[in-house]
Parts: sequence; structure tokens; C-alpha cells
Amino acid sequence: MQWGMIGGGAGSQIGNAHRVSAHIDARLRLTAGALDVDPDAGKRFGMELGIDESRAYGNWQEMLAGELAREDRVELVTVATPNNTHYEIAGAFAAKGFNVLCEKPLTMSVDEAEKLRRTVDASGKVFATNFGYSGYPMAYQAREMIRNGDLGDIRVVFAEFAHGFHALGDDQDNPRVRWRYDPAQAGVSSITADCGIHALHMAQFMTGQKITEIAAHFDRGVVERQLEDDAFLALRLDGGAVGRLWTSAIATGQVHGFGIRVFGSKGGLRWHQEFPNQIYFSPIGEPTRILERGDPALYEKAQLASRIAIGHAEGMFGAFGNIYAAVFGAIRGDDSGLGHNDFPSVEDGVDMVRAVHAATKSAQNNGAWTKLNDV
Ligand SMILES: NC(=O)c1ccc[n+]([C@@H]2O[C@H](COP(=O)([O-])OP(=O)(O)OC[C@H]3O[C@@H](n4cnc5c(N)ncnc54)[C@H](O)[C@@H]3O)[C@@H](O)[C@H]2O)c1
Repeated sequence: MQWGMIGGGAGSQIGNAHRVSAHIDARLRLTAGALDVDPDAGKRFGMELGIDESRAYGNWQEMLAGELAREDRVELVTVATPNNTHYEIAGAFAAKGFNVLCEKPLTMSVDEAEKLRRTVDASGKVFATNFGYSGYPMAYQAREMIRNGDLGDIRVVFAEFAHGFHALGDDQDNPRVRWRYDPAQAGVSSITADCGIHALHMAQFMTGQKITEIAAHFDRGVVERQLEDDAFLALRLDGGAVGRLWTSAIATGQVHGFGIRVFGSKGGLRWHQEFPNQIYFSPIGEPTRILERGDPALYEKAQLASRIAIGHAEGMFGAFGNIYAAVFGAIRGDDSGLGHNDFPSVEDGVDMVRAVHAATKSAQNNGAWTKLNDV
């Protein structure tokens, strides 16, 4: 399947992860791209990656026109540009009938998110939002355990995405840090929209419950910042569970810091992204068990998401690769990619934009409970 990318140029943080992951099953092939905000750099890098000169475009508008003019146009387009461009670029490609995989956060505002959802619905095409961590085999395992009642009724979910990479106050001139705390480029929220959003999505993904209300406190450890670098959220979910999220950019010493714990009436589990091949499962009254990725006793979706035998490390490229595989199947109109088409959709993207905005509104109102439907 021919595949194109917008953004993800040389030196970008997430571009290479997409390329490795999309190619992991040798089903997709990068054949077109507008990879960089600098047209020449984008073309040059595209050709270095093996894209034909005629399809190494200078910008996304050229790519849209160029691909539309071809019989053999790309079937899937990934949007891996900065947040404030997602709405325009993903919307333009979806409106013209391309299948799209868009980076998170889906858009900057709820209004844009809803408009994009309508565009996607009208297109009838496949659209995924890259909450890529939900592609981990053990994330599917947790989802299936909860769905099958292994934990009983879910009471509490505690999610955390707290890293320490923006702990330095004198880091303000670092271009990769600066935009994240500039409302014009980052939007209403910094760390909640950047990292907390993944943990919020994972809470919904694993529990199968939707977040309905949020009470949030936003703080700035580096006080000169305009947006929050640390946040604590309380959540209410529609299946009766409550949730808590801690997200931070100033948690010195934490490297990636993404993990989740789910507690039910029959047991609890914990999973951490830095040790993604294990789930610690604690049924009430029994010793804790370590479930290993690749074990034939796991649920089928965990098996399908796994590419290598038990005991070998399998990580983020495979997780993103599973999103690509499921999207591939959905485009083909079957489940030939992953064995099912369970991937984060445009709806997940919209939900999470609402969650970020509800959290922001709550934080501005001294932590008042705020419904996602009211933003
Ligand atoms: N899902 C994840 O786990 C994950 C992880 C990191 C980043 N992201 C998301 O991916 C997106 C990109 O983040 P990043 O950290 O790679 O950013 P980055 O700043 O490192 O790279 C952005 C790339 O996009 C290019 N670009 C910018 N504007 C463009 C335009 N109009 N047309 C074409 N190319 C353009 C830049 O030249 C650069 O190559 C963001 O939305 C971010 O939130 C997601």
C-alpha cells in the first residue's frame, strides 16, 4: 500500500518512529511526502528516504494536488506536523478522500475537532488518531482482561505520564521546549495536552469507560511559563469508575514516566510503558502474577499484537506498528492487518480534545467539576 507523510522531517522527534512502525510488516511503503516546513529540506530528505523526486513535495498543498492527479495515489497519509497544523492538513486530505492517520492532539479546539469529525464521517474514509501506546500487546491484554471481568467492576484507574525533561528553568530558549509553553503554538494547555492526553486515552482504552467529568489543578513549577508544566486531574467515567491522572514535565529523574494502574472489585493490575512486556496482575486474596507478553495463555488480541516470541523485548515501534496494521486492514475493508480493527479513531481524538479543554476550564475555575460535554 502506498503511503505518504506530512511532517516528520529530518531530526523531528516522532517522524522516524512512524517510518519504522509503518514499515514493520512490509505492507506499507513510503512513496510520497511533504516532510518539512522548509520545502527544500523536505524534498531533499524525502529523496534520501527513497521517495521519487516527483513525489518529494515542497509542502502539503503541492502533495495534495500532486497525489490527487495520480491514478496510483497514496492510500494513507500520516500527519506528523506540530499541533496547530493538524486540523487544516488532516481535514484537507480527509475532505479529498484520503485515509488519514493524524498525530495527537487531534486539533487545538473542540470546535475544530467536531468539524474534523464531520469531515471524516462525510468522507467515509478511515481516520486514526495516533494514541500509539494503545497498540502495545499488553495494553490490549489489559483491555481484554477488564472486558472479560477478570478485575470485576472497575473502581479506580490511576494514570500517570510524568517526565522530567523540562525541569530546567533556563531551558526557555530551547526551541523544542519553548513552543510547548507558548499558547499561540501549544494551545490552552501544555503538559496535559502533550503527555497527559495519552494517559487519559489509555484510561478510556483499558477500562472501556468514557471520561465524562474532570476536576483539574494546573501548576507551573517553572513560574515564568505561561502554561502548566504539572497537573493533577480527578476523573469520573461513565461506567462508574473514578480516575486520577498526574502529568508533569518537571518530575526530575523520571525518564518517560507513563504508566497506569486499574483497580477492580476482583483484582488490580499495573502496567508501565518502560516495561511494556509485563502486566502485574493481583487477584484479591492471591499472590501477584506477572503476565508476560507472548505467553500463549494471554487473550487473543494480545497475541495478535505481538511479533516475536516470549522473552524478547518488544516496544514502541511494534505498538505504533499495530496501529498501522489495524488501519491497513480497515482501508482494505477487512481485518487482514491485525486480525481486528481496534485502533484509536477520530472519535478518540475528539474525546481527548474535549478532555484537555474540560481540564483547562476546570483549572481556571479552581478545580470545579467540568463536564466534557460542556466545553
Ligand atoms: N504519539 C506520540 O507518542 C507522539 C510523540 C511525539 C510527538 N507526537 C506528536 O507528533 C507531532 C510532531 O511532534 P514532533 O515532536 O515530531 O515535532 P518536531 O518539532 O520534532 O517535528 C515536526 C516536523 O514537522 C515538520 N513540519 C512543521 N510544519 C510543517 C508543515 N506545515 N508541513 C510539513 N512539515 C512540517 C517540521 O519541519 C519537523 O520536521 C505533534 O503533534 C506531537 O504532539 C506524538
